[in-house]
This record gives sequence, C-alpha cells and structure tokens, in this order.
Amino acid sequence: MWLLAAWVLLSAVGAGSAQLTFSGPDVVERTDCNRTVTLPCYVNNLKENNIKVMFVTWKKQGKIIFSFDGAKQAFLRDETVPSANLTSQEDLPKGIASLTLISAEAGVGNYSCEVTESNREGETRVELRHSSGPWFLLVESAIIIVLLLLVIIFCSAQFSFIALKYEIEPQKKTGIIVGGVIFIVAAVVGTVLFAQDGYAAQNQAGLGLIVVPAMIAVPLQYFMFGIVFDSLPPTAFVLIFFQILGYIIAVVGFALCVSACPPLHGSVVIAGLAIMASANFISMAYVFITGSRMKDHPRPGKAVEEPLNDAKGVMLE
Ligand SMILES: *[C@@H]1O[C@H](CO)[C@@H](O)[C@H](O)[C@H]1NC(C)=O
Ligand SMILES: *[C@@H]1O[C@H](CO)[C@@H](O)[C@H](O)[C@H]1NC(C)=O
Ligand SMILES: *[C@@H]1O[C@H](CO)[C@@H](O)[C@H](O)[C@H]1NC(C)=O
Repeated sequence: MWLLAAWVLLSAVGAGSAQLTFSGPDVVERTDCNRTVTLPCYVNNLKENNIKVMFVTWKKQGKIIFSFDGAKQAFLRDETVPSANLTSQEDLPKGIASLTLISAEAGVGNYSCEVTESNREGETRVELRHSSGPWFLLVESAIIIVLLLLVIIFCSAQFSFIALKYEIEPQKKTGIIVGGVIFIVAAVVGTVLFAQDGYAAQNQAGLGLIVVPAMIAVPLQYFMFGIVFDSLPPTAFVLIFFQILGYIIAVVGFALCVSACPPLHGSVVIAGLAIMASANFISMAYVFITGSRMKDHPRPGKAVEEPLNDAKGVMLE
C-alpha cells in the first residue's frame, strides 16, 4: 500500500517535470458578429518544435471533437464540427495548437486542448461564452429610425395640408395614399426586424425595408409639388434632386452595411437618410409657404375659370 502511494507520488513528480504548460485566456467570448471562432491553446515549453512528434486533441465537455496526428499528418473530426481545423498548422511546432471553427458549430461550453510532444503532455481548458448584442450601435439604430420617422411625418404633414387646401383628383389622391401606406407598413415592419438583437437575416431584411422603400417618398413629393404648382419651379426640382441624392447615398450605405458585422459604414446610411429628411423638411416648408400665399394670389390655373364666368355673366346681361 505504502509502496503504491510512494510510486504514484513519485511518478506525479516525475511527470510534473515532463509536463507541458500552457498560457492563454480561460474564457473567450463570441458575439453575433463572429463567423468563425478561435479557441486559443498556447504551449509554453515545447522542446523539439517538431510537428512529427506532436499530437493534439480537442475535447468539448469531455468528448473528443478533433484530433491531429503530426506523425501521420492526419486529422480526425467529429461530425458535429466539420469545419474544425488547427488555426495554423505551420505554427503548431511553435506551440500554437489553437482550434478554429465556424461559429455555428461551436456551442458554448468548456473545451480542453491536450497536446503531446513525444512523451511529454499537458492539457488546458478554455470556456467559450456567447454574448448577444445589437448589430448597429444603439445610438445609430435610434438615429436611423428617427430619420425615417421624420421623412414620414414631413410627407404626411404636406399631404394633409395639400388635401385641405387644394382639390385633388380622386385618382391622384388614392395613388398618394396607397404609396404612403406601403411606405409606412414597410417602415414599421423594417423597424421591428431591424431593432432585434443580433446579426441575422431578419436584421438585414429590416434595414433593407427601412432604406429601400424610402424611394416612395420621391414620387410622392413630386406628385404633391404637382398639385401645388402648375409647372414645377426650379426650387422644386432642386429639392427632389436632393431627395434622390439622399436616397442613393442611403442605399449605398445599406449595401456597405448589410454584409458587415460590425457595420463600419452605418454613418453612410445615416447621412443619406439625413439628406432625405432635410430635403423633405424644406419641401414641406416650401409647400406651406406657397400654399398660404395662395389665398391672396390664386393659382393661375384656377383663376382662368372666374374671368370666363364673369364674361358669361356680362354677356347674359
Ligand atoms: C470574435 O470576433 C472578434 C473580432 O473579430 C475577435 O476579436 C474574437 O476573438 C472572436 N471570438 C472568438 C471566440 O474567436
Ligand atoms: C486544415 O488546415 C490544413 C492546413 O492548415 C489544410 O491543408 C486543410 O485543408 C484544412 N482542412 C480543412 C477541412 O479545412
Ligand atoms: C465550464 O466550467 C466552469 C468552471 O468549472 C463552470 O463554472 C461552467 O458552468 C462550465 N460551463 C459549462 C457550459 O458547462
């Protein structure tokens, strides 16, 4: 009995001197932006620096998922992690036995890295955690949603004002209302999807529904100007030009952001929507001012009828 205990103790001490030691973090974090994850495993004290005498095993929650046999240059992968691979096979002789795999295959949990070099070996553990978070910064999302809301408000205010002040052909009215409703529904659905946590198809679709249908605001503005003015003044064309310009910038921003996580070009979307909203605001002010003046200076198109009636009245007398 004593003999056995002494033997165990001795071999533990003996093995201790032949053990490989490791460095690196105990915990790594993965966010929704990580397409791949790398589980770090760094050996401090390799002696031979020769891949031919090395063997690497990765376990997840105690179960082997990956192994690499340096002598045979052979990999073994569990079917749950087909993408798993050494982060860099070339760096293995330098002691880097990190494992890289696709994020979706890497469930959270405790992984262990076991490295053997000839008769020396060692094992280290790393915990993979997941932290969920939004795709865009909160403040960026908020600005995007507010700008979209402003475009809708400025368009609706103009339309209400015009509808009260001018006679609109029923067909045109229906067209404007249908366009407006489509725009608003897309904006609401887009906002709901976009505001979700994470970076997935729903968030991308949400941003698309916010940016792409904003195009509707341009013809709406054109129709509304058309009701107020018989022939569009240059100012109206300039304002429409700026709306189109803002729209194009927003769409370019969307294209830059949609496949990027984190989205580095959120500011381009914001700039585009801001130009659109500004052009919409000035258009609204322009329509309000022009419309209010109409009382004293009737629109030429309408004014034509009255002299005709007067003339008729004169003839009847
Ligand atoms: C996730 O991605 C970030 C940024 O690219 C990186 O720093 C981090 O190490 C990745 N996480 C894991 C577990 O690989
Ligand atoms: C793993 O990496 C090695 C070299 O680093 C490469 O030759 C091999 O094709 C990779 N295997 C997979 C499945 O990606
Ligand atoms: C991983 O190990 C740590 C420490 O032993 C433990 O607190 C944690 O719950 C484990 N995580 C999982 C997912 O088993």
